[in-house]
Amino acid sequence: MPEPTIMMLAPKRWREAKQLRLAALRAEPSAFAASYEDELAFPDDVWIARLTSAYERDGNLTIFAEVEGALLGMAGAGWSRKAKLQHVAEVYSVYVSPEARGRGIASRLMRRLLEELRSLGQIEKVSLTVNSEADAALRLYQGLGFKIIGTSRRTLKAEGRAYNLHIMELHFESE
Ligand SMILES: CC(C)(COP(=O)(O)OP(=O)(O)OC[C@H]1O[C@@H](n2cnc3c(N)ncnc32)[C@H](O)[C@@H]1OP(=O)(O)O)[C@@H](O)C(=O)NCCC(=O)NCCS
Repeated sequence: MPEPTIMMLAPKRWREAKQLRLAALRAEPSAFAASYEDELAFPDDVWIARLTSAYERDGNLTIFAEVEGALLGMAGAGWSRKAKLQHVAEVYSVYVSPEARGRGIASRLMRRLLEELRSLGQIEKVSLTVNSEADAALRLYQGLGFKIIGTSRRTLKAEGRAYNLHIMELHFESE
């Protein structure tokens, strides 16, 4: 497989972003708080607004990985407009298609995401939650310097099971 391009996605490609996101939610129900059924029901304008705001860095941004015109990975983050919270970004929607895993694509997506967040100038801290049993994701985040600061017990329920979520943080100034 050729090297992927790591990039922001133009809003006109919202159908591809939708397809990748729904594939992620369907394949990995225990990895995400959102469910496939909920997002499948979104009207088109929700998908368009989501990718447009991400492209314009308007409260959130998403980085994508593409090989030969096909999207195979994504990583997103959002931040608050509230003055007291606008220094904190929350990472979400981290996913790489199964056939492309283990080749460093998620690491590249996350590094670019963190660079973009840093370049906004206002972000001081990045946080996320991750299923405590998601070994690949945990290793990914730990490799980037995220630290587990606590564990929320039996918080995510998927496919009849309750999972613990680790809360992880990365502070830019202490890197
Ligand atoms: C987590 C995920 C995005 C990783 O994608 P990827 O492109 O395969 O990851 P990379 O190749 O960049 O590897 C990142 C790190 O994870 C490690 N890793 C990858 N697959 C692994 C596995 N199955 N078990 C343990 N560690 C693994 C790699 O060794 C690497 O660590 P290192 O830098 O210390 O060597 C991917 O497995 C995925 O989409 N999983 C399902 C969705 C999910 O869990 N998302 C996270 C939600 S919080």
